[in-house]
Amino acid sequence: MRQPHARFAVLGQPVDHSLSPYIHKHFARQWSIDLDYIRLELAPEALAQGLIRFAADGGVGMNVTLPHKRAVMALCSELMPRARRAQSVNTLSYIDGAWHGDNTDGIGLVNDLCMRHNIDLRGRRTLLLGAGGAAFGVAPALLDAGIGELLVCNRTTERADDLVNVLQEPARAHARYWQDLSELGHFDLIINATSAGRGMQPLQLPFRLAGASTVAVDLSYGMAAIDFLAWAQAAGCGEAFDGLGMLVEQAAESFRIWQGLRPDTDGVYAELRRLADGEGAAE
Ligand code: ATR
Repeated sequence: MRQPHARFAVLGQPVDHSLSPYIHKHFARQWSIDLDYIRLELAPEALAQGLIRFAADGGVGMNVTLPHKRAVMALCSELMPRARRAQSVNTLSYIDGAWHGDNTDGIGLVNDLCMRHNIDLRGRRTLLLGAGGAAFGVAPALLDAGIGELLVCNRTTERADDLVNVLQEPARAHARYWQDLSELGHFDLIINATSAGRGMQPLQLPFRLAGASTVAVDLSYGMAAIDFLAWAQAAGCGEAFDGLGMLVEQAAESFRIWQGLRPDTDGVYAELRRLADGEGAAE
């Protein structure tokens, strides 16, 4: 589907700090597409009507962010398998009079790690911290990318159990108690998918989880990633990344779905990284 003058939006609440319009317009310039991409703030109770109105106004694609990623599932006529497995939608496409839901968060993380940072994910013993929306979004794609054992640890154990049940990978994916973190051994990949960095309570993580061969990733960026990245450095992780690259890569995959074109992501990533490093935060 290639519609140069169609309308696009990022949908959330709040959405005024979203970098998506900037990223997508950067992509569109690679093909001289004059992209109409806005920020659309809707309260949960206005969601259904808002989607109808946006389509009536020429809307053909939306990125979905907090808090709507799960709620929009019910408003889709079709869900791609990766959205079903992630139990959330971050990309909506309006096709033949109905919204179709997909999820590019997981492939965004995998592409960032494999393609930008040249990490070989295959066989990596992986610890996923958290079992909320962000964790559901990335876990299926990590398994598809060939990681080894996946241990999901969440403060509320039931949510870790729910995620593991959805994954349906009994040989590789297991839930563990948060209080047992120091007994879980060493990991090759540690993903922080908690929202702890956005609150006042930093995670208390044992150093023995990590070492020089460990890659640590926070799915957040800016201020929210600072505490975990500091822990990763103190724990001696060989490499540590924030979620800025994932943000750019999930956008690239959404752009490909809508435009049928795969943008080059290096330029916009470098710009955002410069901003983030220069100002301490790019949110
Ligand atoms: P998101 O969509 O960003 O994932 P979410 O669905 O609210 O947000 O999930 C937040 C996740 O961070 C949850 O796994 C939450 O743990 P609980 O399920 O026990 O609430 C986790 N989290 C938030 N603050 C935390 C903290 N201080 N320590 C540990 N886990 C925390």
